Amino acid sequence: MNARKLKQSISALTVSEGAGVTVHRTIGTPALRQLDPFLMLDHFGSDNPDEYIAGFPDHPHRGFVTLTYMIDGHMLHQDSMGSRGDLQAGSVQWMKAASGVIHSEMPQQTNGLMRGFQLWINLPATEKMGRPAYQDFPSARIPVAHAGGATVKIISGAYAGQRGPVDDPHTAVTYLDVSLTPNNEFSHDLPAGLNAFVYVYEGRIGIASDSVNTHTLAVLGAGDRVSLVAGDGGARLILVAGRPLHEPVVQYGPFVMNTEDEIRQAVDDYRHDRLVRTEASRNSF
Ligand code: CO
Repeated sequence: MNARKLKQSISALTVSEGAGVTVHRTIGTPALRQLDPFLMLDHFGSDNPDEYIAGFPDHPHRGFVTLTYMIDGHMLHQDSMGSRGDLQAGSVQWMKAASGVIHSEMPQQTNGLMRGFQLWINLPATEKMGRPAYQDFPSARIPVAHAGGATVKIISGAYAGQRGPVDDPHTAVTYLDVSLTPNNEFSHDLPAGLNAFVYVYEGRIGIASDSVNTHTLAVLGAGDRVSLVAGDGGARLILVAGRPLHEPVVQYGPFVMNTEDEIRQAVDDYRHDRLVRTEASRNSF
């Protein structure tokens, strides 16, 4: 087994999105434009409602998948076809925007807390103009494994003989939410061909001789195993990996296609109210 080392460390950039929501962005910043197949990682969370209560009013997406994971609080969402949902703490939404979705996402606090992640996963060219779809997974559907001092929620991929409910067929995504007690070690086998990262959202971790602090994303180098250790105060992190698509990426805000022409088409479709071509199918579990 060959342990993956720290390849690049990215401190989150605090940016204002939507109608004034403060997010901590790592993938999708000048320091890391993308990590194929991942296009963006936003960590949102604040105990100050003024920083997020205006939410993300109606906005479009085309050409990729959004994977939203709520840790605390909840998120009301509504799309252009009138579908509504309320993503509760611990639950996950996989939304394949594909040919086009216009929706709103409004974070809400519970007991003063609101925290979560949104990851953008690219789609292969053959799927970019396919039919949009949603899948919501309540907290009860996310398996939890306990191993030593580690608690691992399995959102996607496999860990300790259990499988997460989210299945992204094009990029074989692994997505684990890992809580570690102080100085606890955690390791996980990952196929060598996957791109992988760790994002620390509480505490600090060590990867070999490197240290990774809170609100920092660690891009992992080549290897077939991830091995890390929590600092003295313990740590919470997500470990994410996926199969790269190796396709050209042309992005203009919420539209991610393969060519400039396709981007021009997306902008034109949006301006002329043609972005949403077909209703999203919705599967709830
Ligand atoms: Co959105």
